[in-house]
Amino acid sequence: LEGFFVPKRLTGRKVVITAGPTFEAIDPVRGITNISSGKMGYALARACVQAGAEVVLVSGPVSLPVPAGVRRVSVSGARDMREAVFAALPGADVFIGVAAVADYRPLEVAEHKMKKKDGILTLSLTQNPDILADVAALPDAPFCVGFAAESQDLDAYAEGKRQKKGLPMLVGNLVQDGMGADDNVVVLYDDAGRHPLPRAPKAEVAGGIVAHLATLLAAAGR
Ligand code: CTP
Ligand code: CA
Repeated sequence: LEGFFVPKRLTGRKVVITAGPTFEAIDPVRGITNISSGKMGYALARACVQAGAEVVLVSGPVSLPVPAGVRRVSVSGARDMREAVFAALPGADVFIGVAAVADYRPLEVAEHKMKKKDGILTLSLTQNPDILADVAALPDAPFCVGFAAESQDLDAYAEGKRQKKGLPMLVGNLVQDGMGADDNVVVLYDDAGRHPLPRAPKAEVAGGIVAHLATLLAAAGR
């Protein structure tokens, strides 16, 4: 019944979304990761399906069920995530980067379980590719939406990221407000400025993000 009343503003659109953390292996039993429940990305995938879109959800390791109507591709490290995203991109109208991608990974992955030794262990880390920046820089880039979870100075960092990565839209939030929780309070940033959304369950926040995105997409004549 709900579907009958909700306007399908993304009908005929293909949306690719990243969600969850990435896991960067150190050895066969260890790795480094970021804190991310995946809830916001999965809620957005659900909201995009409800808006009529075809959705590919490229997800790092999380314990969440696949939303109905969503094609999930499970990945581990940032490089796997990038590969899965680029494989899903042909025909995509929108790319939404919600994943908490690890910025660095161990330079070398030990083939066997590392044994403990006395003293300090030093790990060398190398930078991961920036998936969102790479997608946004494509000559035929889809409409790209970024996320920024900050612990301070949200407006400056969020708008700075939007400009630096050349994104038409970015969703910012303070980690204290949303991480791991079922509620979130976010601010949307675009060329017209900042648009705060009220605190609400992540499903509702996702609906607000999709509504704004659909409006910008239509305004851009895409
Ligand atoms: N992102 C990405 N690939 C990366 C890092 C980030 O696709 N290697 C995406 C995230 O999914 C998010 C946006 O870029 O949509 C911003 O991520 P964030 O970590 O907040 O920004 P960074 O550019 O990595 O800057 P920093 O971590 O220094 O704040
Ligand atoms: Ca980062």
